[in-house]
Amino acid sequence: MIRIAVLVSGRGSNLQAIIDSIENDYLQAHICVVISDIGEAYALERAKKHGINAVHIDPRRFISKESYEAEVLRFLDLHNVQLVLLAGYMKILGKTLLTTYKNRILNIHPALLPAFPGLHAQEQAFKYGVKVAGCTVHFVDEELDGGPILLQKCVEVREDDTAQTLAERILEQEHKIYPEAVKLFVENKLLIEGRKVKIIK
Ligand code: GRF
Repeated sequence: MIRIAVLVSGRGSNLQAIIDSIENDYLQAHICVVISDIGEAYALERAKKHGINAVHIDPRRFISKESYEAEVLRFLDLHNVQLVLLAGYMKILGKTLLTTYKNRILNIHPALLPAFPGLHAQEQAFKYGVKVAGCTVHFVDEELDGGPILLQKCVEVREDDTAQTLAERILEQEHKIYPEAVKLFVENKLLIEGRKVKIIK
């Protein structure tokens, strides 16, 4: 069974969606470790509740991004991790992780990339006045929110939406497409060709 690590920084609802999809047999995978750069992240509690190793690695203990990531990598090695999922992980990845796990790191972003990369994407989209918002699962490369796209889902903006109600409906879709995307990876149904990801039926 494929061995997954999930990197988090916050509430961990996407982590929960992955855990649930494994527990209800939608996904054949094993989460070996959840790593957070933030000690208070609720995601760590969620992991513990499900008997998953939960580790806080405090970046402030390290003199550089490289040495911090070397420590993250040590845990990934220790658990023989094959796939890394970013789920609300707020740090930008450096070379150390990107090279070691090339094409084996996925991220979920709450906008239809390449529109609205970066922070507060749902609010950016709402303020811009888009009629269709959404979310994206993509491979992670050196460009922020810029790697090849695996799955996207649209969410219509309603007349009475606020940035928050829109973000909530986007989140519901995130919880569906992230497990779907991981399933495609796990079942070896993805072919990366440059910027494009082919899904093999
Ligand atoms: C989600 O909106 C995700 O798309 C973004 O950060 C948020 C994390 O939420 N990358 P959660 O921690 O999974 O609840």
